[in-house]
Parts: sequence; structure tokens; C-alpha cells
Amino acid sequence: MSTDDKNPMPASATGVGARPARRGFLDRHKILETNATLLLIFSFLVVSIGGLVQIVPLFYIENTIEDVEGMRPYSPLELTGRDIYVREGCYVCHSQMIRPMRDEFERYGHFSLAAESQYDHPFQWGSKRTGPDLARVGGRYSDAWHVQHLRDPQSVVPESVMPKYGFLEDKLIEPTYVADLMKTHRMVGVPYTDEMIENAAADFTAQADPDSDYDAMLERYPGAQVRNFDAQPGISETDALVAYLQMLGTLVDFSTFTPDPQR
Ligand code: HEC
Repeated sequence: MSTDDKNPMPASATGVGARPARRGFLDRHKILETNATLLLIFSFLVVSIGGLVQIVPLFYIENTIEDVEGMRPYSPLELTGRDIYVREGCYVCHSQMIRPMRDEFERYGHFSLAAESQYDHPFQWGSKRTGPDLARVGGRYSDAWHVQHLRDPQSVVPESVMPKYGFLEDKLIEPTYVADLMKTHRMVGVPYTDEMIENAAADFTAQADPDSDYDAMLERYPGAQVRNFDAQPGISETDALVAYLQMLGTLVDFSTFTPDPQR
């Protein structure tokens, strides 16, 4: 029989293995760790402070988006086209956001500026590229190419998985609601003037008719392209959509644009 057997006391009770009592910071932290409600309250406090630190400075910066020459609100026809783009879910397969990476700007052009989406409500940056980025597709193809491509994408790009949108050509549209649409955009910060809203319907029609008197429209929307986009009588949804596609990324002149070095 060994001497150990005669001593049945566990080691901890003798004080041999016990930790020395420490009333430190970590001990107090234990109060938090063992009290779910308290932990929740303190987590909330920490997250709130973090959030405020990020958000509050933005209210004091004069302008979070750099003003860029050439940017203007969408013309009534373009805005209608943009609505069709959103309605048809084109953003599900197409992004409108060129990232500042070499492979991207070699393929698509100058990286997107924040100012280029400043009148987009909601923005169309997208999150998936089943098809190519469209941020600078304006002017890359002819109107006829777009019309044919929308009608039957596989007839121009045989391996394309893009659905056919020929039905847009058959749907003639009237500028009945375009002024209301512009008023709604004005509510969220797009600087549409009263004059633009008053002339919305006239400008809508003028942009799709090269024989119209479109000078006043061009003054309101510099750089707007005036054409019968689908080359058919009447203004169809295809007209509006192609007007929108053909202006994407064309407003800022990158041969003269120099980014603000502080951004
Ligand atoms: C299911 C995914 C899908 C949807 C939805 C889709 N596209 Fe596409 N799109 C593609 C693919 C893939 C291509 C590349 C092949 C081609 O040109 O057809 C493409 C190409 C394009 C191009 C040519 C771009 C370039 O730089 O060559 C345009 C313009 C375009 N799509 C517009 C649209 C519009 C407008 C809509 C909505 C009405 C739309 N797409 C909906 C998949 C899609």
C-alpha cells in the first residue's frame, strides 16, 4: 500500500491545482459573457458606435460624389427605356459597373465613376455577368444591330444564351406617365426642373423622330441621340430601350476627364 492511497482528498480541495483568485478585467468581462441580455446591449452599443463613425463624416463632406462634366439626368425616352431594362430583368445577366482592373478597362473602357450612376434609382451595377458589362455599350453597335440582337440574339451571336425580346417591338408606347416617372425621380434627388417635367411628353416624342423640332429637347438633355431607333413607325418599347442602351457610358468625355486626385 502506498502513502497516496491513505489520502483520499482530491488535489483541488487541497489547493494544489487551484487558480489564484484574480479580480482583473477579464473577470469583469465574464459578467458580460454569462449574461445574454447584457451581452446583447453591449454588442448593440459597440455596433452603433462603429456605424456612426462610418456614417457621420459623410454628412459633413460637402459632396460624396465628384461632380463630373457631361452628366445629366436621363431624357424622358431614355428613362422609359431604363424602366423597361429594369422590368425585363436585364440586370440579372448584365452589370453596369466597370471595375478599375486592367482586364476590365481593356475590354469595356474607362472604369465607372460614381457620378455615372448618380441619377440611377435604383442603381444597375448588378452582381452577375452572364453577358458582358453594359456600362459603356452606348455607340459600340448600330441601332440596327441592337434591334436584331434584341429580336434574336442567336442570329448575331450564335452561342448566346440571351433570351429573345422581339415582343418589345410590337408594343407601342405613349408618354402618358413619363412626367410622373420624372417627378418620382425628382423626389429621390434627380434634378429634373419644372421645365423638363412640363415638356416630358414632347421631348419623349421628339427624341424618336429625327424630323421633329428637337432643339429644345437637346438643350435640356445635351448629347441625347435623336433617331428612329427601331426604324419602324411609332415609338415602341424597343425604341426606348435602344435609346437607353445607346447613351450608356457616353455622357462623360474621357479624353478630357481628369479624376480628382484626392479621391
Ligand atoms: C439570361 C441572361 C441574359 C439576359 C436576361 C439578358 N441578356 Fe443580354 N446578353 C447575354 C449574353 C450571354 C450576351 C453575350 C452574347 C450576345 O451578345 O448575345 C448578351 C449580350 C448583350 C448585349 C451586347 C453586349 C456587348 O457588349 O456585346 C446587349 C446590348 C444586351 N445583351 C442587352 C440586353 C438587354 C437590354 C436585356 C434585357 C432586355 C438583356 N440583354 C437580357 C445574356 C443575357
